[in-house]
Amino acid sequence: MSHDRFVTRHIGPRESEIKEMLDFIGVESLEELIEQTVSANIRLKEPLKLQEGLTERRYFRKILNLAAKNKVFNTYIGMGYYDTITPAVIIRNVLENPVWYTSYTPYQSEISQGRLEALLNFQTMICELTSMEISNASLLDESTAAAEAMIMMYSLRSREMCKKGANVILIDEKVWPQTLDVLATRADPLGIELKVMPQQNFSFTEKVFGIIVQYPNSDGEIIDYSVIAEKARKKGIKIAIAADLLSLALLVPPGEWGADIVFGSSQRFGTPMGYGGPHAAFFAARKAYVRRMPGRIIGISRDNNGNRALRMALQTREQHIRREKATSNICTAQALLAIMAGFFGVYHGAAGIKMIAGRIHNIAAFLAEELEKLGYKQLNGHFFDTIRLALPVHVKREDIEWLSHELEMNFRYFENGEVGISIDETTNREDMTWILEVFARAANQKWPVVHEYPQGFLIDEKFRRTSGFMTQEVFNHYRSETEMLRYIKKLEHKDISLTHSMISLGSCTMKLNAATEVLPLSWIEFTGIHPFVPKNQARGYHEMMEELRRDLTEITGMADVSLMPNSGAAGEYAGLMVIREYHKNRGEGHRDVVLIPASAHGTNPASAVMAGMKVVVVDCDERGNIHMESLRNKAEEYRNSLAAIMVTYPSTHGVFESSIVEICQIIHDCGGQVYMDGANMNAQVGLTTPRLIGADVCHLNLHKTFAIPHGGGGPGVGPIAVAPHLVKFLPSHPVMNNSHIGINSVAAAPWGSASVLPVTYGYIKMMGAEGLTKATHIAILNANYIAKALEKNYGIVYTGENGRVGHELILECRHFKGSAGITEEDIAKRLMDFGFHAPTLSFPVHGTLMIEPTESESKPELDRFIEAMNIIFNEIKEVERGEADKNDNVLKNAPHTAEMVISDTWNHGYSRQKAAYPLEWVKKNKFWVPTGRVDNGWGDRNLTTNV
Ligand SMILES: Cc1ncc(COP(=O)(O)O)c(C=O)c1O
Repeated sequence: MSHDRFVTRHIGPRESEIKEMLDFIGVESLEELIEQTVSANIRLKEPLKLQEGLTERRYFRKILNLAAKNKVFNTYIGMGYYDTITPAVIIRNVLENPVWYTSYTPYQSEISQGRLEALLNFQTMICELTSMEISNASLLDESTAAAEAMIMMYSLRSREMCKKGANVILIDEKVWPQTLDVLATRADPLGIELKVMPQQNFSFTEKVFGIIVQYPNSDGEIIDYSVIAEKARKKGIKIAIAADLLSLALLVPPGEWGADIVFGSSQRFGTPMGYGGPHAAFFAARKAYVRRMPGRIIGISRDNNGNRALRMALQTREQHIRREKATSNICTAQALLAIMAGFFGVYHGAAGIKMIAGRIHNIAAFLAEELEKLGYKQLNGHFFDTIRLALPVHVKREDIEWLSHELEMNFRYFENGEVGISIDETTNREDMTWILEVFARAANQKWPVVHEYPQGFLIDEKFRRTSGFMTQEVFNHYRSETEMLRYIKKLEHKDISLTHSMISLGSCTMKLNAATEVLPLSWIEFTGIHPFVPKNQARGYHEMMEELRRDLTEITGMADVSLMPNSGAAGEYAGLMVIREYHKNRGEGHRDVVLIPASAHGTNPASAVMAGMKVVVVDCDERGNIHMESLRNKAEEYRNSLAAIMVTYPSTHGVFESSIVEICQIIHDCGGQVYMDGANMNAQVGLTTPRLIGADVCHLNLHKTFAIPHGGGGPGVGPIAVAPHLVKFLPSHPVMNNSHIGINSVAAAPWGSASVLPVTYGYIKMMGAEGLTKATHIAILNANYIAKALEKNYGIVYTGENGRVGHELILECRHFKGSAGITEEDIAKRLMDFGFHAPTLSFPVHGTLMIEPTESESKPELDRFIEAMNIIFNEIKEVERGEADKNDNVLKNAPHTAEMVISDTWNHGYSRQKAAYPLEWVKKNKFWVPTGRVDNGWGDRNLTTNV
């Protein structure tokens, strides 16, 4: 392949190295390896029908052309999305910085202290602004956060409420339409009755368990909910508030008037609109509810030297532990965007945020006054940033629409002909003049030219915030760009990302996120577009998404794709809801049993329960495959109620089960549908397809197989691909395509996290069919190379019929516990001393490590990893042989910080050299862990989740 082809940059091993690796494995060719790995009956007979891969330069021109087809207007639509100014220091050093965007979810605390601190800042900022006690570290978007609030309130019902069958939630009708829609989707399968009505009509019967209102509401009106909150509290009914985060700088925060949960979007804290996402939702609650909180919570703990150290708290909330008892399926969230919002807070501090909010309010109030002078009637009694206008009789809404488009502006148009204007951080004096011009011209009047920012408009006293917030040091220190830059860098230096070394996390596919793919993410043509603008302003987006949908259907063999779900787990949920709708449509709505193999990822059972299904577990055999006898029996037993099976392929055990076709057949014969978890799609692309195997729906993790960076825990994109009979049930959207007959929406934005889609688009366009297939080959080669190199010392837990693994492998570590008292966690922590992120720990098999090298890692990097693992093996042997102490050894004390190693006292039975520089090459590129081993139990017992 010629050197200017992108595939040669994406794939790690060089051709000559591939030959060496094949020799080492003992096969003649890649094709032979693949034949030994993937059954012939599921192999594609023809190459994928995709365009030939473009060079990086040609792709760059293509994406530039597409970007030029998007029109960036000044948009005053509001509805949860606002233009914002991302401080350049954050764009350059966070959004565009691969240390931040290529790192993984901070499960390994010791090498994640930077992003953990940034997320702790986010949590603290949320608590301060909402005046609540605890916050999580982000959810997917505001609408799904509303659904999480509903389900959390439902799970918090008192025993008495449960006895009385309290299942009604009251929702004010003036909540965003997209939120109402997602709530409807999520309530139905759980048997929750949604009553949408004006909040004035709320009646707290014994069936009511919770209420949701919005502050300010969807008209922009600020309502005093304190009386409702008090009434609800007296009846034990929980109240959740959807709040505009920025408004809380000026308004009495919900925590001060009795909210149980406050949620919303942090988008306008420096995350561009991006045609709908990704943005970090926030979710804050009373501390008493902490064990029911959805998503991840960062907590403060200490390390083995007694120093303060951060970590993800309450790991028991994770779905892979709670499985079908989970009350949320959130896994990947929006870490990178939460980190950005937190930094926005750090840079501006309370004073800056108040200033931004105050200016917005002044502009809105000034425009209200001026527009009233032009004959318009402003309808909101009290407002923060949004005014709602009734038009004079002689003014036509269409005139406003075309005049505004002529001046490149968008307003919100209500169904009754009224017009909404939401002001944002970017609105300036010229913008004010232009807004007035549109309304004046429509009314045949003159308009004033605005020379100064308006001042002196205050929020009415009864709504005005008087309490201080964000008084912590971190929000009051970093005001100059130099200081801010250094703070960001200080945190960055504490983390391991793909910029340091391979991240071999099994099931996570930490491949290259190429610079050419991610560059467009900060272009205004992609970032500056509101999701509800007329489609003709987003032609570039639609052209790109159309091609992407086509390519993804080709890659999966399916008939259509919905890009809406914002994570893998959200895709699982969406897919199951589509299946549910399909059954209902055929008059088989009673089908509600989902078979899930014991080895499945925890989100599978959690998503099934969220979709109102009953989980029945299918056993796995000693090779890690689905136990066919168990499957047949269960499918037969539940024949009349079987809705679906959820399978991961290749299995979570990293093996291409040859019985997969039969598995799908058994399910279909019993009237069920096959849902395929696409987390392992990296081993399928170009070799087989979910459809060929027999699946009816699959989700794809674009943030795994298709190169979207993991962002330290999100963004994720989990589109679902479906077979022809399910196309009509794909999710609709209440604002952008409500003629659709599919299920209600599963996310706030019609095309989910649209602004990161150029990454996947670029990946597919530059790789082409040949490159994508080659990537799959090399992913399998790399995994088999590591398996071969480590099998003697460790052992591989599961292999296929020919002794091969798929694109990942599970390393046996369980016997070391008995022989040396060494656990898989000790090995994981020791790897940090070598500068490596640990593989996946104890999933899907307890006591093991799952390794997925991906195709992007070169042979020298694989060799370094193998060497480190073999040195660790020798270190375990030293303990086994009694040459090293069972409790005081390099593994038990790992990772070793610089402070430990340079300390004047060194009481260990091994040298400092061995601790810190176990291999010669480690010296040349040493990553010093900033903290020793973190004590998880202590952190859980002394839960602190704010700075
Ligand atoms: C097999 C499998 N399924 C589902 C998921 C959930 O995906 P997400 O984290 O994007 O929600 C994961 C995540 O790691 C996974 O490994």
